[in-house]
Amino acid sequence: MILDGKATSMTRQADLKKTVESLDGAPHLVVILTTDNPASTTYVKAKEKAAKKIGFKSTIIHDMTGDEADLLKTIHTLNNDSDVHGILVQLPLAEGLDVKRVMDAIDPKKDVDGFHPINVAALFQNRPGFVPATPRGIIELLDTYDIPLSGKHAVIVGRSQIVGLPMVHLLTQRHATVTVCHSRTVDLKAHTLSADILVVATGRPHLITADYVRPGATVVDVGINRVEGKLIGDVDFEAVKEVAQAITPVPRGVGPMTITALLENTLDAYQQLRSQT
Ligand code: GUN
Repeated sequence: MILDGKATSMTRQADLKKTVESLDGAPHLVVILTTDNPASTTYVKAKEKAAKKIGFKSTIIHDMTGDEADLLKTIHTLNNDSDVHGILVQLPLAEGLDVKRVMDAIDPKKDVDGFHPINVAALFQNRPGFVPATPRGIIELLDTYDIPLSGKHAVIVGRSQIVGLPMVHLLTQRHATVTVCHSRTVDLKAHTLSADILVVATGRPHLITADYVRPGATVVDVGINRVEGKLIGDVDFEAVKEVAQAITPVPRGVGPMTITALLENTLDAYQQLRSQT
């Protein structure tokens, strides 16, 4: 079975559009871009297009001076602007900018990326807060296809703050048994072969081949690698789909779910900010 992130996203975005039409205002997402990195530019444009399509306001701020004080001032202004509900600073940042100081500057109530330490701690302690978009999107995709998580062995390959580590918490909250593997893991294959759910977020094209996957497993491929002009995942889709019971393709898998989850976070931010005033 193919876990179709594109189709699932389209359904969810249609629902979001209906909700937005029923509001007396529009959620406003502001994305700050500090580099002209082509991948980042593509992602940011995709976020803006999706936001506008469902009736959000969307602003992209190009802040490429590399001046951190300036960037922090911009964030501060957005924090205090009641017409702004979601603030996202696209990563990676331009060289010389400190990611921790930049994340710390964002109002946690507008931190739709879920990268502020307050939101990271909220996830750790299972309190209300913003969950990073890719992990939120992955859980929503698994739920859409009724993939059982409770009691299952989930193996995560990759320990990033954006994907791997938040997935540990989300899968543990759903009562999975979680193993985290990474670049220093000895005998990766021994771990992945015991996975009921295999989440791969390494940025290493086709790291996971069919011999790494237990027959009947569910495989979630978070990788987006441009190789010879083509987008491919961290999983060798054509081979692994013959072994896995369920698998996300690249493209049209996790990527669209990330964008949809970002929009859902922004709507949540809008509703929470509005209910406070
Ligand atoms: N770069 C790659 N993924 C992400 C993400 O989810 N959020 C931000 N801000 N930057 C990213």
